[in-house]
Amino acid sequence: MTNRATSWNSGVVTDDALKSILNESGGPANRSIPATTAASKGSNAYQVHTYPTKVPSAAIEPFILASTEPNGTVLDPFCGSGMTGLAAQNTGRRAILSDLAPGAVHLAHNLTHPVASDLLAEAMANLTTAFAKLETALYGSDCPTCGRPETLRHMVWTDVHTCTRCGMEIRVWNQTDETGGSSRTLVCDCGHRQSRSGVSDVGSEPAEKAVACSSCRKLQRGPVDGRDLALLASIKKKKLKDWVPSVPMGPDREMYRRSALHLRGITDVSDFWNQRSKLALSALWRYISEHAPKDARSALGFAFTNTAWHATRMRRFNALGGQRPLTGTLYIPQLIAEGNVFEIFRHQVAQISRFYAAHPALGRNDLATLARRASATDLSWLPGGSIDYVFTDPPFGANLYYGDCNVVWEAWLGEVTDLEKEIVVNRSLPSSAGGKTLAEYEKLLGDAFTEIHRVLAPSARTSVVFHNADDKVWSALLAATDRAGLTQTDVSMLDKVQRSMKGYKGRSGAELVPFYDLVITFAPGWPAPKSHLNGAGEIALEAVRTHLKALPGVSNDETQRQRSLEYLYSLSVAAVIGAGHQPAGLSFKTLEQLLRTNLVSEDRLYFLV
Ligand SMILES: C[S@@+](CC[C@H](N)C(=O)[O-])C[C@H]1O[C@@H](n2cnc3c(N)ncnc32)[C@H](O)[C@@H]1O
Ligand SMILES: [Zn+2]
Ligand SMILES: [Zn+2]
Repeated sequence: MTNRATSWNSGVVTDDALKSILNESGGPANRSIPATTAASKGSNAYQVHTYPTKVPSAAIEPFILASTEPNGTVLDPFCGSGMTGLAAQNTGRRAILSDLAPGAVHLAHNLTHPVASDLLAEAMANLTTAFAKLETALYGSDCPTCGRPETLRHMVWTDVHTCTRCGMEIRVWNQTDETGGSSRTLVCDCGHRQSRSGVSDVGSEPAEKAVACSSCRKLQRGPVDGRDLALLASIKKKKLKDWVPSVPMGPDREMYRRSALHLRGITDVSDFWNQRSKLALSALWRYISEHAPKDARSALGFAFTNTAWHATRMRRFNALGGQRPLTGTLYIPQLIAEGNVFEIFRHQVAQISRFYAAHPALGRNDLATLARRASATDLSWLPGGSIDYVFTDPPFGANLYYGDCNVVWEAWLGEVTDLEKEIVVNRSLPSSAGGKTLAEYEKLLGDAFTEIHRVLAPSARTSVVFHNADDKVWSALLAATDRAGLTQTDVSMLDKVQRSMKGYKGRSGAELVPFYDLVITFAPGWPAPKSHLNGAGEIALEAVRTHLKALPGVSNDETQRQRSLEYLYSLSVAAVIGAGHQPAGLSFKTLEQLLRTNLVSEDRLYFLV
């Protein structure tokens, strides 16, 4: 089998393309930076493809408008899904995007290079015809209500445990409530109780199917029948004819350990799909690579990689609908909603079509954007002084392992992230496997900022999205920017999501999931040495008091949000950094203690005494 993926290099950028962006650039600007910016996750661009920790483009636009003239060139060397590129196009700027991850480059390219919907529609019509037979062969099933032959929408698979006392089978499916949730304990018919997590040698069986029936109209759910079981048995015997990616997966990946994949039979990335999904995905990928029209190919590949992610064993069953894997992990749930690959793909293409139809760059060739694979620590492909503004969102310490999370869809591109170069704190791995201390993280981040400083035009600035609940990681960021000769000029608050109060109540300090990032803006220039302020707490408390005093007395969602520890922590760090100090000793936990002692807290909300 040849590697179908070798031609999937959306990250190759010609010198000419780069030159033309840089030559016609509009220049930097120094208008005032917004103090706060907000955007919801609901936008079409947000949903078009999975990626951990996306920054919505609407939140980036005010920064670009303030820092560049029209046609100015914006660089994001940690571009992820490419939202900075979209923000640049929305504001009439040019963008250069780069990332270490081949998957990120693939996303960033496709997010910023729309394809006309009639081209996609035509390609899809041909594709649907080509796969009609295979879809029936793999997913043909009778409606559980009226018996009409249709195709599966999904099949739920349940973990099957063995009772440690009597040896009888215990199916997780039989012990769940309406939402698919259940307790951590399984109860056998014999009365024995045992834990359902942390156990190996667990079997998997189909438990239920869902069929979209054209006669019953709605999605029909019901038990798996004889035809379904016979089909599964025949699929099990089928040999794979087409290429499926293979990447070894083991404890040398941080997320392998954290997601306990050794208990889920995973030794290779291909183990994330069952045989049926592999047959469907590999045939679809070969078709897209070999037969899709050139102009639509990349966009279909974009729909495909997200389909591959949705089709993994990570797709969680939810009885209330909205089956999907969790983002930012490799967790395989105990109830899996195996989707129909073709159905998922159709849905993805429709979603991408809608997104492209409303795209600012569609049919315009002045909004030049390019995406390229590169480590931010080496931007030697960019000349010094060539960039008007940098807006970027580097990895925040040990929060997320992008290379590990992305591998389940990135692998289809034929190349995966080089973990040795990934900027992340990873204390549980040896350095040969990508392990890095906080000092090494700081060093790599410093190298990246040194490169950013080099490529910036003389009066240009750079804005950095950052968050962490650990003051030591904040200090690492500030040390890295200091070493690169960047002086901070503004600190803004980035409110990524509107959450309901359910988000705060009952959350324990141990979870530490802040969702207010800061955007710190820097200008070239050697900063005055920062004090490792032991009085960081005083500045924080003062800032919190001033903030609470100014809040209106009414209690609504917005004022409650602004009394939450998550909000007050971001506010505190912003105040300390804004005053030119390191937030030394100011972690999420220490602030919680400080506020508890000095303020009144109720339901994890804080009030002045
Ligand atoms: C916080 S994410 C950026 C997400 C982005 N803001 C978005 O909206 O999708 C950080 C990115 O840094 C990338 N990264 C990690 N190490 C890198 C390196 N040495 N050079 C370039 N990118 C790197 C990761 O692949 C990841 O995409
Ligand atoms: Zn029916
Ligand atoms: Zn038993």
